[in-house]
Amino acid sequence: MHTQPLFGAAFLFPLAPLGTIKTTPVTEKERKMHYRRLGRSGIKVSELSYGAWVTFGNQLGEKEAREIIHAAYDRGVNFFDNADIYAKGQAEILMGKAIQGLPRPALVLSSKVFWPTMPGPNGRGLSRKHIMESIHASLRRLGTDYLDIYYCHRFDPDTPIEEVVYTMNLLIQQGKILYWGTSEWTAAQITQAVHLARQHHLLPPVVEQPQYNMFHRRRVEVELAPVARELGIGLTTWSPLYSGILTGKYNEGIPEGSRASLESMAWIRDRITPERIAVVRQLSALAAELGLTTAQLAIAWLLRRKEVSSVITGATKLAQLEENLGAAEALEKLTDEVLDRIEAILDNAPEEE
Ligand SMILES: NC(=O)c1ccc[n+]([C@@H]2O[C@H](COP(=O)([O-])OP(=O)(O)OC[C@H]3O[C@@H](n4cnc5c(N)ncnc54)[C@H](OP(=O)(O)O)[C@@H]3O)[C@@H](O)[C@H]2O)c1
Repeated sequence: MHTQPLFGAAFLFPLAPLGTIKTTPVTEKERKMHYRRLGRSGIKVSELSYGAWVTFGNQLGEKEAREIIHAAYDRGVNFFDNADIYAKGQAEILMGKAIQGLPRPALVLSSKVFWPTMPGPNGRGLSRKHIMESIHASLRRLGTDYLDIYYCHRFDPDTPIEEVVYTMNLLIQQGKILYWGTSEWTAAQITQAVHLARQHHLLPPVVEQPQYNMFHRRRVEVELAPVARELGIGLTTWSPLYSGILTGKYNEGIPEGSRASLESMAWIRDRITPERIAVVRQLSALAAELGLTTAQLAIAWLLRRKEVSSVITGATKLAQLEENLGAAEALEKLTDEVLDRIEAILDNAPEEE
């Protein structure tokens, strides 16, 4: 019997504190990877997942994309994240080819809608028209009949939230998506969507996708965590390594071929400050003491929070993927004493409001 902390336990027994539930792994790879419920919903996602942003269609071609997806799947990753906007649709095309040969029921595939991907004033946003156009295009590119999770990539101030909730419910009824969620919505916006859905007997969002890493904490730890617990929203978090800065790879400059070296990603270079590098160096020393890499420490640290259903990782190389997936086993090394030392190094714990 395999015991793992799961946020979902709190929802089975709403009055009980967050705790652990037992699941029985049925295959060897399920023994290595832990799966968490997506908030209060029934679907389970691998606590470490893999996303296509920047890499697919830019840094990786068909062959490499396939190798990475299959390697991730073989290590127990079941959740693969994408968006209509990534590499102008190329990322979905590559992922669609890469998953060929894998059992579709075993995969949790996601995509997103909001950013401009089509011509004209209706080629963006969350109107029913654009959502319908975009989901059809995503399904075609991914070569699948349905998405497991569909995210509203940002809040759209130009579309009534009622229209969004009704459209997502409609997509679920049509079998085009199974669950829906938000990305970078505020706690108030998520709460409004959930209440509206409940009021009209529609299916509410069950997941939010926020940025969360050691340098970007407030949103998840102060704003979203209470809403996640109260409303049963799972968090699938992005940029766990702050675009690679938390691996230590930028400590001595910008390596050729790395994300920060890409012309389109020039803004990342502004994030590589002497202060942050000083913090990363201290984290690297602590990680080495624990027999971990800096990336593993940074990813495992995110998994400590039960509101997090899955940490969406990114990787351009198989070795990076292997290293990052090792974070699942690193979690047990994060004792209270280690967590205190990390807090002292980061010195950025957000204050409760
Ligand atoms: N909802 C949203 O608005 C949103 C926004 C951003 C991302 N996301 C999702 O979150 C996923 C992950 O975000 P992210 O790619 O920014 O994650 P990240 O972990 O912060 O950065 C990943 C990048 O860091 C480098 N890297 C990763 N592991 C490494 C290792 N062990 N050693 C050295 N370098 C390493 C690689 O880039 P190089 O090798 O090129 O340096 C890799 O592509 C995306 O793919 C996407 O699915 C969502």
